[in-house]
Amino acid sequence: MTLKIETPVGEIASQFPLSTRVFARHKIDFCCGGGAPLQKVCEKHGLDVHEILSEINAEVANEEEDTQWNDVLLTDLIQHIVSKYHASLKEELPRLEMMAVKVNKVHGEKDPVRLQAIETIFSELKTELLEHMIKEEQILFPMIAKGQFVSAVGPISVMEAEHDSAGESLKKLRELTNDFTPPEGACNTWLALWHGLSVLEKDMHQHIHLENNILFTRALNS
Ligand SMILES: [Fe+2]
Ligand SMILES: [Fe+2]
Repeated sequence: MTLKIETPVGEIASQFPLSTRVFARHKIDFCCGGGAPLQKVCEKHGLDVHEILSEINAEVANEEEDTQWNDVLLTDLIQHIVSKYHASLKEELPRLEMMAVKVNKVHGEKDPVRLQAIETIFSELKTELLEHMIKEEQILFPMIAKGQFVSAVGPISVMEAEHDSAGESLKKLRELTNDFTPPEGACNTWLALWHGLSVLEKDMHQHIHLENNILFTRALNS
């Protein structure tokens, strides 16, 4: 595959995993908005598409073969998603929620509207994601692993809609935290929460990318 300005960003991310570094750098959404062509996405962000292409080419030049998730068994990809991304979410979501509650409780008066909104949005996101992962692990992933691709069509579209919803919540959290920039004099919990949210966003983008653009796409084309 050659990189072209009309290629959808999701397809670029799927074929060249290291291109996602460039997308992250420029805040380009390659998971939920992955269907849009690179040129259109760059226009929307006020970026020069040719500069972005050369940045992607530079990253891709270093691409290692073993990051090509398109070539592994679907069961191995599922195992990777569950052991890497689901496991860390199950640990991080309750931990970050506790911190969001604490920061709002202790420092709420410093920024009442935003700190309350962060706590509320995060708590809803946590509940949604925990239920989402149960559905993937207990229903959809076993279907894909067994090769029941026709039955998987419906559940896949539900999971994709839930990814979009999680993507929206993450966008709101980024806005509410001023791009995860802590305010002057923030306490350690506050600093750790902002950092944790930024890592969660990065991991969620990669996680959703592996599901939407690789696992689900491969299952639907099987
Ligand atoms: Fe997942
Ligand atoms: Fe998912």
